[in-house]
Amino acid sequence: MNDPAVPPPGIDTSVPNVARVYDALLGGKDNFAVDRVQAAKLVEFDPSLPSLVRQNREFVNRAVIWAASRGIRQFLDLGAGLPTHPAVHEAARGVIASARVVYVDSDPVVVLHAQSLLSGPDGVIAVRADLAQPETVMSPQTLGDLFDPAEPMCVMLAAVLHFMSAATAHDLVSRYARLLAPGSVLAVSVIGSDDPEVAARARQAYTTTKTYTHGRADVASFLAEAGLALVEPGVVLAHAWRGNMPDPGLTVTSPFRVLAAVGIREH
Ligand SMILES: C[S@@+](CC[C@H](N)C(=O)[O-])C[C@H]1O[C@@H](n2cnc3c(N)ncnc32)[C@H](O)[C@@H]1O
Repeated sequence: MNDPAVPPPGIDTSVPNVARVYDALLGGKDNFAVDRVQAAKLVEFDPSLPSLVRQNREFVNRAVIWAASRGIRQFLDLGAGLPTHPAVHEAARGVIASARVVYVDSDPVVVLHAQSLLSGPDGVIAVRADLAQPETVMSPQTLGDLFDPAEPMCVMLAAVLHFMSAATAHDLVSRYARLLAPGSVLAVSVIGSDDPEVAARARQAYTTTKTYTHGRADVASFLAEAGLALVEPGVVLAHAWRGNMPDPGLTVTSPFRVLAAVGIREH
């Protein structure tokens, strides 16, 4: 996007948008001035935020590569956001060339943009849907004929559950887990602060979208109560999930953290 003279129809460039602010934090170019101003406010609030969102993306890539290395060929990225590199299909196809990927987002801008970038690869689609409707998302109406429901799948809920209360997140993870074939995995990450005052101030800075802080115990129970076994190393800081290097940009003083975990449906 990068501030075209006339923005695409239907896009409100006067208010910041969650997906575009996140893209600006990642150093992407799919955002408008209003989003960059919002991102700058957040960085002023905590200079380590760009490093934290990068850690989240790196966790996503490692989780996808780990799942593909187990032979999983179907990837469902819920709340996918604007395309980044490597994207989920690029990471998965680095391991299994025939991996199929469905990107789901409720934001029409994200979906339009993803569709224009994904017009090339077969077996990769971007669909507009509300991830809060698992039964609809997991139906052929959304997945088309790309996925075989009897085959294991990797479901990504990266940096989205903090837009939901713990009760809603519990309910959603359980409903998705029920629809998965044995051997499937579900990856979760949440960004937040364990300091309620910091969380409240950040909430004011981060557009008008309501956010919630979920702690380690919450994330562990989202997976456990859904009947998913926690994959080693458990619920950890994103850079520590099967990563071998701490992010050099991570300051120990950051009031925020990204928690990450993967659960597996064993039976
Ligand atoms: C912070 S971005 C995360 C992007 C990506 N998952 C990642 O971890 O890098 C959150 C995305 O979730 C999308 N989103 C929020 N609520 C959603 C919902 N109910 N259904 C589908 N997408 C949603 C937003 O539009 C946004 O693109």
